[in-house]
Amino acid sequence: MTQSVFQDGLLKGKVAFVTGGSSGINLGIAEAFVKAGARVVINGRNPEKLEAAVKGLQAHGTAMGVPADVRDYAALEKAFQTVREAYGEIDILLCGAAGNFPAPVLGMSSNGFKAVMEIDVLGTFNACRAAFEHLRKPGAVVLNISAPQAYLPMAMQAHVCAAKAGVDMLTRTLAIEWGGVGVRVNSITPGPIDDTEGMRRLAPGEDARQKLTQALPLQRFGNKQDIANLALFLASDAASYITGSIMVCDGGQSLLGSGVMLQALGA
Ligand code: COA
Repeated sequence: MTQSVFQDGLLKGKVAFVTGGSSGINLGIAEAFVKAGARVVINGRNPEKLEAAVKGLQAHGTAMGVPADVRDYAALEKAFQTVREAYGEIDILLCGAAGNFPAPVLGMSSNGFKAVMEIDVLGTFNACRAAFEHLRKPGAVVLNISAPQAYLPMAMQAHVCAAKAGVDMLTRTLAIEWGGVGVRVNSITPGPIDDTEGMRRLAPGEDARQKLTQALPLQRFGNKQDIANLALFLASDAASYITGSIMVCDGGQSLLGSGVMLQALGA
């Protein structure tokens, strides 16, 4: 298991807001932020799942949950207001809420495509737009979770390819627009990460996992700490001259082109 390389108290005094924070990579990042001393707010659609995740985070520090669907701008505005009353201004926004299912274009309805576009692209736009008045200060940070699909075309992933390319362009555009007020905006691009809903859907079963592992240059799946370490770095002042970057943490997966991820599913 990868170790955290960051010292205690790295994010002491900071407030972080994590969308889609009830599980997976986003919860791993939320936990790393709490352990680094930040007060952390996680957001999710399912109140029960959210509450259970908050309890886990509270074992390490200060955390709260705010339920909202990132597709609902008014609900997000309300969530940020609740956070302001509880914790004050936000220093770090991590946009991680995302949708995915493997399906070819002809096996996907217009509504299925729209669901992923709206969760990923509109949801990231909504969170950034609604958060701005709460984080508009030098040193504030936005991190958007992307995917190799943003630049690697993949069969059965047309919706995710389109959506994550959109997320990366939001990252770059916001970096230009918000650089003047000192807000840094970057994307994190995780490769195959263990114990996540995404990989359960994209490489289901031991056989698919083995094939993918053997193909990866680093010959292993990543873990949540690998991504959390990158998020900690980007959220900290150590990254104070990095903005508009798409930071890839994928064990070399994207060097292999688009064939690897879904080959086990026969794509
Ligand atoms: N194949 C084809 N279409 C699918 C599908 C699948 N496996 N799963 C969902 N859809 C379609 C639905 O059929 C529906 O379209 P329809 O109304 O034409 O039938 C559309 O997607 C929306 O589904 P719904 O369940 O109403 O919407 P939702 O807002 O809950 O979003 C998901 C559905 C699948 C996008 C969402 O629940 C999700 O992504 N969950 C998994 C989260 C995840 O994996 N996160 C990690 C991302 S890497």
